[in-house]
Amino acid sequence: MRIDILTLFPEMFEGPFSSSIIKRAIERSLIHIYVNNFRNYAYDRHKVVDDTPYGGGAGMVLKPEPIFEAVEGLLGKPYVKNTQKPVILLSPQGRIFDQKIARELSACERIVLICGHYEGTDERISQHLATDEISIGDYVLSGGEPAAIVMVDAIARLVPGVIDSLSASDDSFSRGLLEYPQYTRPASYRGYKVPEILLSGNHGEIEKWRKEQALKRTLIRRPDLLDKASLTKTEREAVEKLKETL
Ligand code: ADE
Repeated sequence: MRIDILTLFPEMFEGPFSSSIIKRAIERSLIHIYVNNFRNYAYDRHKVVDDTPYGGGAGMVLKPEPIFEAVEGLLGKPYVKNTQKPVILLSPQGRIFDQKIARELSACERIVLICGHYEGTDERISQHLATDEISIGDYVLSGGEPAAIVMVDAIARLVPGVIDSLSASDDSFSRGLLEYPQYTRPASYRGYKVPEILLSGNHGEIEKWRKEQALKRTLIRRPDLLDKASLTKTEREAVEKLKETL
């Protein structure tokens, strides 16, 4: 998979992409990431990428030309929207990023991420260039860069071979549930004990306990997830039972 990032601050990606799982995925050529400064596509002498908003108001707006031309430089001219090669504008106005979107994007051969800055981007970028507009949450960042890093991380770990596929499918959210509690040695720390069942060696009972814990935790912390989760009939019944105990 190839990911192109368009940004005015390429240095913001240096740390995150040179550590941990993303670093390893890049080294193993499982993903290719290119960080491009779209200021290079500004035509005037001063490389201006923003301007005041039509109609007045505070702040600056990113101009359409450098971003359109940067995308054309990457995907070819004339540019034709192609959902197989998504061009995604990151902004608080977008649809909210989640595990399902991460999974869909992890199957694409190529993705372009456009990081906005200042007070906004010219609406023609969202209307006529981007195939999608995504937000990572209901808060305003000073730019799309942290959002791009979050998305690349979530997408990269789902690319086949990046992490072992069992851990990806076992993840919190893979079935729409929160994860069950995990413990490791020592069995007792400062008097805090690991649940007895996990030390029992009874794999059937452990599996049952974990499933129940995942359901219970989701019910308490994120009941909204349960409506959309893919649960079996037995699991649905277990949820109803758990509700009575709360
Ligand atoms: N740019 C500014 N805020 C953002 C957010 N919440 N998600 C994506 N891009 C953004």
